[in-house]
Amino acid sequence: MTIHNFDEIIDRRGSNSFKWDLFSKEALPMWVADMDFKVPAPITSALHQAVDHAVFGYSMESKELRNNVVTRMKKLYGWEIDESWIVTTTGLVSAFFAAADLLCKDQGGYLIQTPVYMPFNQLQDAFGITRQENALLPVITGNKINYQFDAGNFSAAFHTGGVRTKMFLLCNPHNPVGKCYSRDELAIMAEKCLENEAIIVSDEIHSELLLDGNKHIPIATLSKEIENNTITLVSPSKTFNIAGLFCGFAIIANEDLRKKYKKTVERMTLHVSGLSLVAAQAAFSGECDGWLGDLNTYLTLNRNHLVSRLTADLPELITTVPQATYLGWLGFGEPIEKGKLTGEPNEYLYKRGHIVLNNGAAFGPGGEKFARINFGCPRSLLDDGIDRIMDALK
Ligand SMILES: Cc1ncc(COP(=O)(O)O)c(C=O)c1O
Repeated sequence: MTIHNFDEIIDRRGSNSFKWDLFSKEALPMWVADMDFKVPAPITSALHQAVDHAVFGYSMESKELRNNVVTRMKKLYGWEIDESWIVTTTGLVSAFFAAADLLCKDQGGYLIQTPVYMPFNQLQDAFGITRQENALLPVITGNKINYQFDAGNFSAAFHTGGVRTKMFLLCNPHNPVGKCYSRDELAIMAEKCLENEAIIVSDEIHSELLLDGNKHIPIATLSKEIENNTITLVSPSKTFNIAGLFCGFAIIANEDLRKKYKKTVERMTLHVSGLSLVAAQAAFSGECDGWLGDLNTYLTLNRNHLVSRLTADLPELITTVPQATYLGWLGFGEPIEKGKLTGEPNEYLYKRGHIVLNNGAAFGPGGEKFARINFGCPRSLLDDGIDRIMDALK
């Protein structure tokens, strides 16, 4: 059995890494969502083989890749999907942009739950469509913050501003707050979408990055009727750290919806690179699942370490205890009120502490005074990052 060394420090500077090469050399980047770990060996060897073949013409997905997606859904969730339901896309942002184009053009509205992953907010400007929001409710206990789903507010958010909601864009698990929605919560969301004739587009990119052995439930598995009303988006990109290769899958049971969606994807020319298909096939083959088990254990320990160090050393900050993802969400309300931090938290911390975090405000309403931290890194880097936040707030 291979032991995966997630403590290994890999020098990523000078590799054209968006995360590592955009800011000053002195700064520790803990922002953009990729991990500082090597991918599992089966992915590297599949890519080596493809590179050694040395011909890089246009590619299409193999039967085996499609079978791997089918088998994975069955194995993880007992979800029986047909191979024909799968539409391959250039990653999941493109996949939900295509859905917005298809479902919301002609001035439709789309509903999101804030604060949420930045591009969810940006669809409004990208397509000139109406963003409708259900704010997740923050509940603070000591220095911990937890976000709750409120069914009444969710229901009231449909068709706000007099615009019909055509699409509910769900983020499950939820970036940035790390929440795995429960079966009951998902059932309420799905029922309301059916009642209001809104298609569910469920971005489940973080579904396999589960901490503490938490469970993920794809909303489409709740019933056949819900399955028929849902576009489920999955990808190996976050789980297996191949986000820079760009590949994702839309799973659509509803034939009419699928045909229209495929046409949109073709019109938008969302082609996938051959090497990303090679990597995705290996990632979803099952051969990388030992690595993934070890990764989730390592990330759970990183999460625990982050939360306990913040509690001990920076009790004036509030923090989520994420159930999934490698993303922490830190609240700086108290240092701001006390005048210890001025301006946007991420900018202040960059200047004073040489650490790069994401600006919470970019995640939409409810994100102000927060910053997102990426703990998908060796523990020594995580400690370095926490020390830098402490230094900046001294
Ligand atoms: C919820 C969510 N969806 C999509 C993406 C990115 O997807 P892709 O790189 O496949 O476009 C991210 C990246 O952080 C994400 O958090």
